[in-house]
Amino acid sequence: MGRAFVYVIVGGGVAAGYAALEFTRKGVSDGELCIISDEPVAPYERPALSKGFLLPEDPTRLPSFHTCVGANDEILTPKWYKEHGIELVLGTRVKSVDARRLTLVTSTGETITYNFLIIATGARALKLEEFGVEGSDAENVCYLRDLSDADRLATVIQSSSNGNAVVIGGGYIGMECAASLVINKINVTMVLAGAHCMARLFTPKIATFYEDYYMGKGVKFIKGTVLTSFEFDSDKKLPADLVVVGIGIRPNISLFEGQLTIEKGGIKVNSQMQSSESSVYAIGDVATFPVKLYGEMRRLEHVDFARKSARHAVSAIMEPEKTGEFDYLPCFYSRFFAFSWQFYGDHVGEVVHFGEYEDGEVFGAYWVKEGHLVGCFLEGGTKEQYETISKATQLKPAVTDMEELEREGLGFTQTV
Ligand code: FDA
Repeated sequence: MGRAFVYVIVGGGVAAGYAALEFTRKGVSDGELCIISDEPVAPYERPALSKGFLLPEDPTRLPSFHTCVGANDEILTPKWYKEHGIELVLGTRVKSVDARRLTLVTSTGETITYNFLIIATGARALKLEEFGVEGSDAENVCYLRDLSDADRLATVIQSSSNGNAVVIGGGYIGMECAASLVINKINVTMVLAGAHCMARLFTPKIATFYEDYYMGKGVKFIKGTVLTSFEFDSDKKLPADLVVVGIGIRPNISLFEGQLTIEKGGIKVNSQMQSSESSVYAIGDVATFPVKLYGEMRRLEHVDFARKSARHAVSAIMEPEKTGEFDYLPCFYSRFFAFSWQFYGDHVGEVVHFGEYEDGEVFGAYWVKEGHLVGCFLEGGTKEQYETISKATQLKPAVTDMEELEREGLGFTQTV
């Protein structure tokens, strides 16, 4: 028994949701598109899980954060998929794919054939066991990747009020979860492997600002420390009613290994998001794509990329002659407590800080490489300011005088 579709999307996360909307805009017909997801719900805005979802009062719940609400667009509820003739196969895992024969098999045993396949399988959270630490299957040790993880974390949070939590990892999952735990009146200790939080992006100055704020909220930091079976080196033991682990992710590409070209841990695609098999495309966290601006292949684990790569792939499939090269400016953001920042471009080269680090309202940093602005971080900007820094960073303007750049601060991007 099997069905045939023109387009199949494997995976039902952020990228799948944005692809679905784009398919309808390009004029997909009833019954042509099928989305298969092992999650039991229609695509949703995953970033909400570590933010509004964990709030003690009036937490965000579905259907309010289905895609594409994150781009201030339509909210695609299950009803929407039905009305648009899109087959949404939920709670079903794709078990195998034959990329040459254009077929796949699902966990229910169904064989599905397609003309075009879009891979949008995202990533999974890395487990402590993968670093040789046992015991992360304990009841109150939580990871956070999908809705079931978030439901579990929210339940454990409720039963840990006034208790102690240890957050392992200082990336955006760690920082956002720590803030949510504090708001839920839980005492938090953060254990970071690096010298400061968000070590891959933040400069020490930016990190110090946020860490000071967290410390002011009672958060303790233990840095440069690795975990050994839930006892820390230097013989320090931490009481924990709850542990949140955010130590990175690994793209879900195993279905395609040996069939498609893999690079930098992801599925290698060209500037049309097309893989080494011409009828197979990859979008979102799984795709390693050419960043035209930097002449380099990269894989990005951020929601803006998931949304935009999805739109581009659909456009390349449905209107190939009208679709140019994907020219993407890397962008990511995070929100915790009342803070909100965005970053555009590349964080390489020399750094210039600007703005009010003392009062913490609006501040940022530029990255300058080989005499050109390549990256910009901004905390507390307005919508217009974020648009301005994004446009300026894309243009890679020349910077002749670093001191002048520091003096001009945010104003520099307005002159570009
Ligand atoms: P995504 O993970 O969204 O979807 C993949 C889907 O495929 C899932 O539904 C999965 O179950 C399914 N799947 C996998 N294998 C399958 C199979 N074999 N068969 C069927 N289904 C399968 N980014 C950012 O820029 N700013 C932020 O603030 C945040 N915040 C944030 C918070 C939290 C808690 C998380 C987990 C992530 C973020 N992110 C983020 C990252 C962002 O959410 C991420 O980059 C996108 O969700 C990627 O979208 P994808 O569609 O590629 O994967």
